[in-house]
Amino acid sequence: MTDQTPSLEAPPVDGSPVEGPGAEPIWRLAYFSHARLEGGRDAILREVTSILAVSRRNNTAAGVTGGLLFNSGGFAQVLEGTRQAVGDTFERIQCDPRHTDVLVLAYEPVAARQFDVWSMGFVGADLGDARLFGALHADSGFDPSRFTGNTVAETLCRLLLEEEVVRA
Ligand SMILES: Cc1cc2nc3c(=O)[nH]c(=O)nc-3n(C[C@H](O)[C@H](O)[C@H](O)COP(=O)(O)O)c2cc1C
Repeated sequence: MTDQTPSLEAPPVDGSPVEGPGAEPIWRLAYFSHARLEGGRDAILREVTSILAVSRRNNTAAGVTGGLLFNSGGFAQVLEGTRQAVGDTFERIQCDPRHTDVLVLAYEPVAARQFDVWSMGFVGADLGDARLFGALHADSGFDPSRFTGNTVAETLCRLLLEEEVVRA
């Protein structure tokens, strides 16, 4: 891979924001949506790569962490950060015409970040890999409307860690 080639791998976040007693609570938002990406496999891959590059730049600046899964025409994403940062980020995301039918599964305070090393981790580099949504489907009885915030967060986190093991 050359320097010009955008990478699908998330660069590590440069230390998670200082969080501890007295710090602002961390909120987690999880949603599922249907992709509206045009073109063939290469065009779609380019678009997803561009979404990731912008996400990682903005999220690093805003102290937002999370994971994005793309497969089988759908996105699942988890965003974590202060309520304000997650809210502002999601405002932009939900207006994005590159997806539709955005279904929020959870928006709640959590005890700690689960994705603290990823400004936006990505699962789905192999766009034909049905295994990814399969993992979510298996936990929800194959019905996206039954995905819960926890199912999505747990599954995404597990897949991200598995991919790290494969890459290592
Ligand atoms: C599925 C999906 C996930 C996205 N995730 C993020 C994200 O985590 N952070 C972000 O800033 N933008 C994300 N975006 C892009 C936003 O919709 C929007 O284009 C972007 O935030 C605009 O940033 P800019 O004003 O810096 O160009 C996502 C878009 C899509 C379609």
